[in-house]
Amino acid sequence: MSHSDPSGMQPRRFAPTGPLKGRIRVPGDKSISHRSIMLGALAVGETRVTGLLEGEDVLSTAAAMRAMGAQIERRDDGEWRIHGVGVGGLLQPQAALDMGNSGTSTRLLMGLVSSHAITASFVGDASLSRRPMGRVIEPLSQMGADFTASPGADGSQTLPLMVRGAAPAVPITYRLPVASAQVKSAILLAGLNTPGITTVIEPVPTRDHSERMLKGFGAELEVEVEADGTRIIRLRGEAEFRPQRIAVPGDPSSAAFFVVAALIVPGSDLVIENVGLNPTRAALFAVLRQMGGSIAELDRREVGGEPVADLHVTHSALTGIAVDPAVVPSMVDEFPVLFVAAALAQGRTVTSGLEELRVKESDRIAVMHAALELAGAAVTETTDGLIIDGTGGEPLPGTPAGAVVATQLDHRIAMAMAVAGLASCAGVEIDDTRPIATSFPAFERLLDGLAA
Ligand code: S3P
Repeated sequence: MSHSDPSGMQPRRFAPTGPLKGRIRVPGDKSISHRSIMLGALAVGETRVTGLLEGEDVLSTAAAMRAMGAQIERRDDGEWRIHGVGVGGLLQPQAALDMGNSGTSTRLLMGLVSSHAITASFVGDASLSRRPMGRVIEPLSQMGADFTASPGADGSQTLPLMVRGAAPAVPITYRLPVASAQVKSAILLAGLNTPGITTVIEPVPTRDHSERMLKGFGAELEVEVEADGTRIIRLRGEAEFRPQRIAVPGDPSSAAFFVVAALIVPGSDLVIENVGLNPTRAALFAVLRQMGGSIAELDRREVGGEPVADLHVTHSALTGIAVDPAVVPSMVDEFPVLFVAAALAQGRTVTSGLEELRVKESDRIAVMHAALELAGAAVTETTDGLIIDGTGGEPLPGTPAGAVVATQLDHRIAMAMAVAGLASCAGVEIDDTRPIATSFPAFERLLDGLAA
């Protein structure tokens, strides 16, 4: 769904509510949900998925896979059932695929289409239409696919774009020039219907949900880790997929907002159930602990082949730190809310190596700089990060009357600044809550429920 129409904007002031206490459960992981639908749609037979995130981004993926031939239904009990077309069996979509706000849907599906004898057009909202697609067009072109993209403001290649897939596509060996799980996954998904071995070399590890799930569905995939940590991922194409039963663990990127909220709001004592703790995703919790945050893992277990625990979080005095840039890929989506934690910490937090944040749903460095400053935080922007001098636990002033945080169609900016509002004097007014539904439709309900 597009939230580009300014006449429908839903502004809201997030004001202090008192301590956050009790237990909540976060919705399914967005990355794993996308991949469950895509891979289920390539298996012959019925894949069953529980705990799927029913956010707009994932629904965009489901609509696209239906448009290319898969049968995908939600049962009344919340289970999703997918009847796939088989690897290589995607059908020509009859209309443009509307990707809404979702970069993951777009880039992964560009990969899938690239090795099928079909042509597909991709369109998206204003935010997605600004994001760079050259990073996937380049390797997928080497595999034989043909692209016509729109020119972006800075010479980049953007949506709307059209992909003509190659059949057969050519297997490649590709070294990732940016640390991006989306680029890695696009190439691997293209490799599924490509004869021979497709190889991705990943100098900096990124989330590995694609590798885990491709193996689960029966693909021949191996990962070699070199002495310096470089990962070499080899996938044999023309795989036959067996349908799976998948339980999607809770999304650590959604849990992040409540973890930080409980840390910065005095008196809080909160348990967040069912949080995925895949090591390629969980660095935020380690960084917050390094800052002095009390975050305990209860009942560590496995859900859907991923480590999961309930997180017990209590209000903590935080101290600023220099965040090691090596952890950036394992918390790439969590910086907006980490910046909020830093704004409440004692002393200075320095972040660097965050260039990729400038090409997310918004330029998250610039947008969080402006947003936090409006709420009264002391923030300096560098080319690749923010430097934040925290209040030492005192609430932020909040946004002045008549001033509104511009969230730029970015769900994570909206949720991060909602959390900032909880630890402010006057509250934080944001311009539009609608984009929150792309990844976390229940966010406001959960927050309001804790307040009540
Ligand atoms: C994702 C990868 C990351 C992340 C995004 C989801 C994925 O993007 O920011 O929210 O599911 O593969 P990049 O690959 O651009 O870093």
